[in-house]
Amino acid sequence: MKKTLALALALAMVLGLAACGGGDKPQQPSNPGSNAGTSANQPTGTPENIANKDKPLVWFNRQPSNSSTGELDMDALNFNKDTYYVGFDANQGAELQGQMILDYITANIDSIDRNGDGVIGYVLAIGDIGHNDSIARTRGVRKALDTAIEEGGNIKSDAVGINADGSATAVKDGKLTIGGKEYTVRELASQEMKNSAGATWDAATAGNTIGTWVSTFGDQIDVVASNNDGMGMAMFNAWSKENKVPTFGYDANADAVAAIADGYGGTISQHADVQAYLTLRVLRNALDGVDIDTGIGTPDDAGNVLSPDVFKYVDAERSYYALNVAVTADNYNDFLDATKPYAPVANQLDATAHPTKNVWLNIYNSADNFLSATYQPLLQNYDDILNLNVEYIGGDGQTEANITNRLGNPSQYDAFAINMVKTDNSASYTALLNQ
Ligand code: BGC
Repeated sequence: MKKTLALALALAMVLGLAACGGGDKPQQPSNPGSNAGTSANQPTGTPENIANKDKPLVWFNRQPSNSSTGELDMDALNFNKDTYYVGFDANQGAELQGQMILDYITANIDSIDRNGDGVIGYVLAIGDIGHNDSIARTRGVRKALDTAIEEGGNIKSDAVGINADGSATAVKDGKLTIGGKEYTVRELASQEMKNSAGATWDAATAGNTIGTWVSTFGDQIDVVASNNDGMGMAMFNAWSKENKVPTFGYDANADAVAAIADGYGGTISQHADVQAYLTLRVLRNALDGVDIDTGIGTPDDAGNVLSPDVFKYVDAERSYYALNVAVTADNYNDFLDATKPYAPVANQLDATAHPTKNVWLNIYNSADNFLSATYQPLLQNYDDILNLNVEYIGGDGQTEANITNRLGNPSQYDAFAINMVKTDNSASYTALLNQ
C-alpha cells in the first residue's frame, strides 16, 4: 500500500504535479532506510546511528519458548529494553473453545449422536504439537468434553492417531451428564496437520485427513474440532458441510464466520484487531520514546486507548495478550468483517508528532490462513494509522533461513516485528541483530 503511494507520489513529481500532490499523508520513502526515509526532522535519530541490537523488537503470534516444555525464552523476550511479545491469552481462548463445543452438544443432545450408538464421537485436527497455542486448544477441548488425561499436572496434548476402541493413552472416554442422562464421548481420531514439506497448521492436510477419518468411522463422527479455522474450514468444505456435522475452529477468519450461516458450528475470535494494533503500537511507542502504555491502557494524543476487557499485559513475561471471544450463531453477524481496525484504536496519528519510521516485519508462512487473511490485512490498516512504513516478508512456513535471508541489512530499519517458524528459534533472528 505504502509502496504504491510512494510510487504514485514519485510519478506525480516527475510529471511536475507535485504542487497538487501531498494530501493528508506523509510522503513515504521508496527506499527504506535511505536518507530520504529518515529525514533530519525525526527526533529519535536515524537507523544509522542506533545499533540494531538496541532497536525496538516485537515477537508476535509465536511466543519465544521451548517447543517441548512450553517454557518461555526469557532471553529473547528481554533482548533489549524495547522488546515485547504480542499474542493472545491461549488458556482463556482454549477454555472458551471447549465450552462452545460443550454448549453446542448440550443444546443439540437429541440429534447429536448420528448413529444412535450412545457414543458422541469427535475428531480433532491439531495445528502444531510444539506450539503453545495449539497445545492449549487441544487441552481445552479435551477438558470440556471430559476426555482429558493429566500427567504431571498438565493435560496430555499428544495426538492419538486412530482411537476406534477408546484404548488410546493420551485421552480417555469422557462422561457427560446432560438432562439427567449420561453420555460417553470419545476422541475417535486426532492428528498434527503437517504437510510433507514440514509446514504445520496445514489446511490441505486436514482436508485430506477428514476423508480418511470418514472412511474409517463414517457416521460415528458427530463433531469435528480443529485448532484453527484454516484446517476447520478445509474439513467443513470437504465433508462436514454436506453431512451437516458441526465443525468448530479458532481465529474467526472471515470465511469461517460467514460459514456459520451454512452450519459451521463456531469459532473463537482471538481479537486479531487488537493484536495487530499492539504489534505495531509497541514499536511506535518505543520509537517515539514515550511510555509503553501510550495508546494502550492510557489514551494517546489521538484518543486511541484499549479497555481492560480486550487485553492484558504480563510484565514478567514482557507480553501483551489479547482476550478471546466466542463467535457462534448467536453473534456472528458482529464478526463478519475480520479485517476492520478496532474502532477505539483506529484514530490516525499526527505525522509531525509521530514521523514515519521503517519497520521490517515477517509472516512465518504466507500460506497460513489466519496470518495472511486476517492478521496481515489488519497490520496494513494500522501501519497507515501509526505512520509506520512496514516491509512485509512472507516465509514458506518451513525454515527460518527462508526469512532471515531476506533481512540482509537490518541497518535499513528502525524496528523489527518477528513471527518465527519455530518458537525455539529466536537466536536465528537475534544473531542478525547482534552483528
Ligand atoms: C492461529 C493459527 C495460525 C497460527 C500460526 C495461531 O494463533 O490460531 O491459525 O496458523 O497462529 O502461528
